[in-house]
This record gives sequence, structure tokens and C-alpha cells, in this order.
Amino acid sequence: MTTPDTPASPTRPIRFVHRAQVQQVDHLPPTTTVLQWLREHAHCTGTKEGCAEGDCGACTVVVGEADPVTGAWQQRTVNSCIAFLPTLDGKALLTVEDVAPSPRELHPCQQAMVACHGSQCGFCTPGFVMSLWNLYQQHDTAPTRPELADALSGNLCRCTGYRPILDAGQQMFDAPRVAFDPQPWLQALNTLAGDAPLVYEGPDAATPGQRARFWAPRSLDELARLRADMPAARLLAGSTDIGLWVTKQFRALGDIIYLGRVAELQTIQTDATQGVLTIGAGASLEDAWQALTHAVPSLREIWLRFASPPVRHAGTLGGNIANGSPIGDSAPILLALDAQLVLRHGDTVRELPLNAFYLDYMKNALQPGELVQALKVPLPAAHQVVRAYKISKRRDSDISAVCAGLMLQMDGDTITEARLGWGGMAATARRATHAEAALRGQPWTEATLRAAQATLAQDFTPLTDLRASNTYRLKVAANLLERLWLETRPNAPLAADQVQVWPAQA
Ligand code: FAD
Ligand code: FES
Ligand code: FES
Repeated sequence: MTTPDTPASPTRPIRFVHRAQVQQVDHLPPTTTVLQWLREHAHCTGTKEGCAEGDCGACTVVVGEADPVTGAWQQRTVNSCIAFLPTLDGKALLTVEDVAPSPRELHPCQQAMVACHGSQCGFCTPGFVMSLWNLYQQHDTAPTRPELADALSGNLCRCTGYRPILDAGQQMFDAPRVAFDPQPWLQALNTLAGDAPLVYEGPDAATPGQRARFWAPRSLDELARLRADMPAARLLAGSTDIGLWVTKQFRALGDIIYLGRVAELQTIQTDATQGVLTIGAGASLEDAWQALTHAVPSLREIWLRFASPPVRHAGTLGGNIANGSPIGDSAPILLALDAQLVLRHGDTVRELPLNAFYLDYMKNALQPGELVQALKVPLPAAHQVVRAYKISKRRDSDISAVCAGLMLQMDGDTITEARLGWGGMAATARRATHAEAALRGQPWTEATLRAAQATLAQDFTPLTDLRASNTYRLKVAANLLERLWLETRPNAPLAADQVQVWPAQA
């Protein structure tokens, strides 16, 4: 909540485009979700609430904006139940009410859902329609079944068993194409282009009588200044962790500094001469994983199994690292790749190996008022092999019981360097230093594998929780080392399709 040292910047209403009209909100709490505004204030109740935590997709909406460079329309699906309304400032919100080309006709994706019996109770259907509609805009022809399954991995249906919905996702391309005209939306967005960076103030939802502010700076310098001046304010990125603190734990966030409007934090650059991929902390998980997979193709599976498309569109890599969950999936891989963090406090920038960032459970080395600005990821050299394995109950959109990011550097048959990053094995994501020592300098043989497996119990004393027992975690970690050996041993390595755990979707 606002305090005497809260900077006295002028506040203004949140302004965004909905139903191709400019909407203005000036009286709601900053942590009002987009879904709450839609259903309780705009009375647009086509968008449903199922879980209120980003898992089911019933609340899927599309957020559109003009590309800051080209001005072209760009859109992505997000979960409206964990997105805060002020993050819509300057953007367009499209819901299931916006999909049909006219009141008298259905969009091909809607028509195909009817024809294929893709809807029974209908509760999930608006969310599926938004994901299908978004996919329709991105493809001219029907995607493959696996592509479709990946695109819909953020939408759960309890009735249909999914085959009819996947059928609809392919059949929607059989009908004559219905083009979406973004012009009315871009024109309306254009009227917001001159707005000052948002400083919004509203009632603090969790602390009656108090007020809270929401800052959305547009430059990195301004963000760093605000962060340094108000170290107690909550830094907000994609709110795919923070959103649940509000919707599930009813926590008070107080003042919020939102980094989602700082374009400098969203850049992704490869410096081929230095061999470094630099990912801005505000880059979406989707963009970040795409860049990492481009550099390390073996990361494709863990990219597609990281949350779901709407979560990956909103969430950021910086958020995953800074949140520091012990079962976060990016840290093990970035530990194996020896990633460095670029940290910023006011005008001061420092670098820190990710390996030195986590201090204890949900505790990291960030100083008060400091933020993660970027991650520098060394690109693997030719003689390095990298593998990432995620162990979870479901293939899609599930939290890891164990996650491994494994890198071996080879000189002929000998391992010259090993970096083994693990999630789910300790209070923080961490490297297995004893197992690494057992590998370093040894020939990559079964005997070396067994020696490394035997040291894992020195590296980790994992928890037993709902997802897995400590015994299971140690056993499966040893098995993942064995899988690494089977895939990368000098003699007769197994081919990918011999180790593929998940059958290619039909
Ligand atoms: P936010 O929620 O905005 O912030 C998270 C924390 O990081 C906050 O404490 C915030 O203050 C801090 N923070 C954010 N950016 C910075 C910065 N630049 N500098 C300093 N501090 C910062 N995670 C996984 O690892 N694997 C999964 O498979 C996965 N599945 C998920 C599925 C669902 C349905 C949901 C809702 C979440 C899932 N997550 C998963 C967790 C979450 O999506 C990720 O941790 C995400 O990367 C968080 O990023 P964010 O931008 O949303 O962070
Ligand atoms: Fe379930 Fe939003 S209501 S994802
Ligand atoms: Fe009932 Fe999907 S039709 S949940």
C-alpha cells in the first residue's frame, strides 16, 4: 500500500481496448484480474472461471497489441484469471464474444467444434475456442495432431476426451477462410499511443481502507530507478507465479512495479563471436525457450512441456529464475549451460553465475532494490552434449517431481567437464558436484556411470512430498544419468526414438 515515501507521481486510469472500444478503469484494486473485470464489471460472461490458477484454460483470452517496431498486429493467448487488469494498459483484449465474424454466423473454429461434437457441458469450450481461434490466425493449413495437442495443452476438458476437439482443430481449416481484420483494433490502440506510462492507484484488495499503486515504466532506467527507490514494492513480470498468490492465497501485494512494458527487457540476442545468447529477463517463456531450443535442439521437449502456451506467453524466464522454486524447470538447464545473471540496481550492473544465485529455499542473492536484467547463456561448444529430462505425472502442463539439465564435454571418449543441474532434489535447483567429480576426467563407460550414480546420495537428500518420495527421486535421478549414458556413450549410443518416453501423438 502507498506509504509516505511513495513517489508523488500523477496517477491515471487504466486504458485498454475491448470490443474494439477504448475502456477506462479508475476505481478497481490493481490486483483485479482481467477475468474479474470481464465477468463482474464488463458483464462479458462468455469467458469462464474454472481453477483461477492458470491450469484449466477456461478463462483463455487473447491479448493483442501493435508491434512496437513495425506497428503490425500481434496476438497471443493468456489466462485471464491470473492476469492483473493494469497489465492490459495500452493493449487490446479479445474474448470469445469477439470471434464470430457477425452475430448471425459462427467462426470456422466454432462451427467445427459443433460439427465434431467438441463440446458437451460446454464449460471449457470458450477457452478452447480462443486457443483454436489464435491457432487459426497463425496457420493457413491444418497443423499436425502433435502441434494441435501442444497448442491446446493449456486447455482441459472433462467431458469429451479431446479427440473431437482435435478433430475440430483440423477441420476448421476445411471451411472457407475467415480473415480477422485487426484494423479497428489497431486504430483504437493508436488513440492510446500517446498515454503517459501508467501510474495507477486503487484500493488495496487485501487491506481494506488502504490504497495501492501500480507502476508500469517504459524504460529500463526508469524501472531500475523505481525498483531502487521502492525496494519493498513487488516486482511483477508475467504474474504466472504472483497471480496465484492473489487468487489462491489472498495475499496483499501492496505497491507493484510492472516490468512488462519495458521493451529493453524483452530482447533476445545471440553474439556468435562471444558464443553467448543473452535473454532479457522480461522475455516471454515462449520466446526464451524458442531461442534456447534453437541453440540447443535437445531442449525442444522440455520447452513444450514447460507449463502451457498461455502461461508461456505471459510468464518470463526472469520470473522463473527469480521466483526460484525448487521445482522450477529452467534453472537445472541453465545451471548445466553455466548461465550468468545480469543484475541491476539503479545504475549499477553486476554479473553473477546462476550457480551462486540461490542461497536457500526461495532465497536468492538479489540485493534489496535489485532486479534480474538478463541471463547470459554460453552457447554449447561442438564437443558438448546437453540433455534435459522432466519427470512429472502428466506429459503436459505438470509440475516436475524431478528435472535434470545435464551437460558433458567430451574429448574423444573422455569426459573433460560435466555440469549436472537438478530440480526437485533439494531446497533449491542445484548442481550435483559429487557426481560431476566422479565423471570429470573419466572415460564415458558403464563403470564411470555407476560411480557417478553412487555419489548422488552424497549430493542430495531429497524431500518426500505429494509428487514423489525421496527414494523415488534418488532412483529416478540415477536412471536419468543412465539415460544420458545410453544416449551419449561413445559406443553404440541409442537413437532418439529408442529413448523417447512419450509416444508421438497420433
Ligand atoms: P511473476 O509471477 O511475475 O514473478 C515471480 C517472482 O519473480 C516474483 O517474486 C517477482 O517479484 C519476481 N520477479 C519477476 N521478474 C523479476 C526480475 N526481472 N527481477 C527480479 N525479480 C523478478 N514453472 C516451471 O518451472 N515449470 C512449469 O512447468 C510450470 N508450469 C506452470 C503451470 C501453470 C498453470 C502456472 C500458473 C505456472 C507454472 N509455472 C511453471 C510457474 C511460472 O509460470 C514460472 O515460474 C514463470 O516463469 C514465472 O514468471 P512470471 O514472469 O510469471 O513471474
Ligand atoms: Fe483455469 Fe484460468 S480459470 S486457467
Ligand atoms: Fe465439459 Fe469440456 S465440454 S469440460
